[in-house]
Amino acid sequence: MNRTHHCAQLSKNDLGSIASLSGWVDSIRDHGGILFIDLRDRKGVTQVKFDPQDNAALAQQAARLKPESVIGVSGRVTARPEGTVNDKLPTGEIELTAASLVIHNISETPPFPLDDASAGKVNEDLRLTYRYLDLRRPKMRGNLVVRHRVAKAVRDYFDEREFIEVETPALFKSTPEGAREYLVPSRIWPGQFYALSQSPQQFKQILMVAGVERYFQIARCFRDEDLRADRQMEFTQVDVEASFITREDVYELFEGMLKKIWRDVLGVEIATPFLRLPFVDAMNRFGVDKPDMRFAIELSDLTDAFKNSSFKVFSATANKPGCAIKAINAKGLADITQGELKALEDTAKTLGAKGLAFIKVEGGEWKSPIVKFFSDAEKAALAEKLRMADGDIVFFAADEWEKACAILGRVRLEAAQLLAKRGKITLRADDWKFLWVVDFPLMTYDADRGGYAATHHPFTAPVPEDIPLLDSDPKAVRGQHYDLVLNGMELGGGSIRIHQPALQKKVFEDVLKIPRDVVESRFGYMLKAFTYGAPPHGGIAFGLDRLVALLCGTTSIRDVIAFPKTQKGQCLMTQSPSPVTPKQLKELHIQTVVPEPAAPPPAA
Ligand code: AMO
Ligand code: AMP
Repeated sequence: MNRTHHCAQLSKNDLGSIASLSGWVDSIRDHGGILFIDLRDRKGVTQVKFDPQDNAALAQQAARLKPESVIGVSGRVTARPEGTVNDKLPTGEIELTAASLVIHNISETPPFPLDDASAGKVNEDLRLTYRYLDLRRPKMRGNLVVRHRVAKAVRDYFDEREFIEVETPALFKSTPEGAREYLVPSRIWPGQFYALSQSPQQFKQILMVAGVERYFQIARCFRDEDLRADRQMEFTQVDVEASFITREDVYELFEGMLKKIWRDVLGVEIATPFLRLPFVDAMNRFGVDKPDMRFAIELSDLTDAFKNSSFKVFSATANKPGCAIKAINAKGLADITQGELKALEDTAKTLGAKGLAFIKVEGGEWKSPIVKFFSDAEKAALAEKLRMADGDIVFFAADEWEKACAILGRVRLEAAQLLAKRGKITLRADDWKFLWVVDFPLMTYDADRGGYAATHHPFTAPVPEDIPLLDSDPKAVRGQHYDLVLNGMELGGGSIRIHQPALQKKVFEDVLKIPRDVVESRFGYMLKAFTYGAPPHGGIAFGLDRLVALLCGTTSIRDVIAFPKTQKGQCLMTQSPSPVTPKQLKELHIQTVVPEPAAPPPAA
């Protein structure tokens, strides 16, 4: 039986004609012996009627069907009787009166309901174990379609601009870039390993040396990180690199790409150019390098106001070099409950806060455990800077500058959630607030290790006029690095790269203090390539999973990956990771130190 139509196609225009449909039984209703089956395929649903009055044998056959069974059915397109029309369905005015039926497979009863409305109530582990059922839900199928559309828009966009897609190896060499790597043992080279590529970074730079000039790739990347809603061990980047370009060119290129994606996929016009915010301002005003700009609350700096305070907690910090007193006015949140306040304090403490001092303004009065220590001048400075009014609550953090900013940055986000819950602000998923964060420091000092680490990666070029500072004051050197942020999520990051072998060597050896022999064994090939004519170049990489998640209005990238891993790094459907045979291990020259394979974690 050949399909003549899909299940969202038949309408009143087809009345009287014969049609054949194939698909899954979405639901079965028995109305006094007459069976109504909603037949579903990838496009939609059509109602099929089996009437024992018309064909008793056929109706009997249909009575065997269970939800999710796969069938083919032919019959005549008939109008639904008055009062039974369903306006919500494109096929809601008709039904197919069955004349023949092929049963391809009777389904077992699914372990959970497959409609979108129930999805939120189903345990995610169960959904992932039966991912093939979960993916039958219209919302999940829609997410896969969006992902496909984005990938197509990206390929078309770069193709039109003469970028070519070049594949680079997944099996790379161990050259730690930041995250922990996955190692793959070599059978042919006993005791040696490949590393799965964390990103095509080094290959794309080599492609520039190779004269490709304009490269892009939708590339799979692997990082052994702690998994979260926005992180997978295996994820996809839209990776780009070009020669002879500046930061401005990259901004324009990517704004154009995002414009096309939003237009092609959502039919939405986004405004360009995007806002640009220097890293220092992002921290000072929003307490984070990926600010959510959908709401206006900002941090204030009160370090100077408290230099002479009799509140020692603040004055001691205000006078310490590198420290700051930051405050934030969560406007309208004075009605915060004790429980919410406690939760906020606990969050602040996980970031190392020593406390979370606050002042509530209620009935014109300031209520706070600390306000008794403040002078009138300090109070006036507060009221003015923070524009304190009735119903407000102000939080404080006194700490090292970056920590104080980060603590209140988190308070800012959580306060926004609480305000949104009260209907005092709106946080719409489709309120697209794009932003470039720029002017990052090239190096970050790591006090634990007692040395510098690259803020982005060691291939990022310094701003040319700051190069002399590499020797005298590395932390003052600005990098030619940029991050693209959307609604509080880091979507992408990149930089103009170092293309001079001597400068690259200097960064490795003199600033990052990587021993010469280690530089040679890890990056020697790259430094050598650069000596044969490396063009100036730069690029960027976008998290495709994150981008698609935002477009689909979901906060978890697992919802836009067909077969993701759980938070514990497992594929519950195929049961990986899994033990292997001693023979396999021997072949790979691997001896395990685990006596028994680890027991699987208890079922959730
Ligand atoms: P970076 O490490 O910033 O840069 O990665 C670029 C983007 O990839 C996404 N991303 C992830 N998405 C899901 N799960 C993960 N574990 C994960 N890790 C990163 C983020 C991030 O912004 N080679 C450089 C880019 C360059 O300099 O051109 C790089 O990989 O959205
Ligand atoms: P204490 O004098 O330590 O009891 O602190 C008085 C108030 O200030 C308490 O509400 C503390 O939570 C808060 N507090 C203490 N240290 C800090 C800090 N570094 N930043 C912000 N608030 C603090």
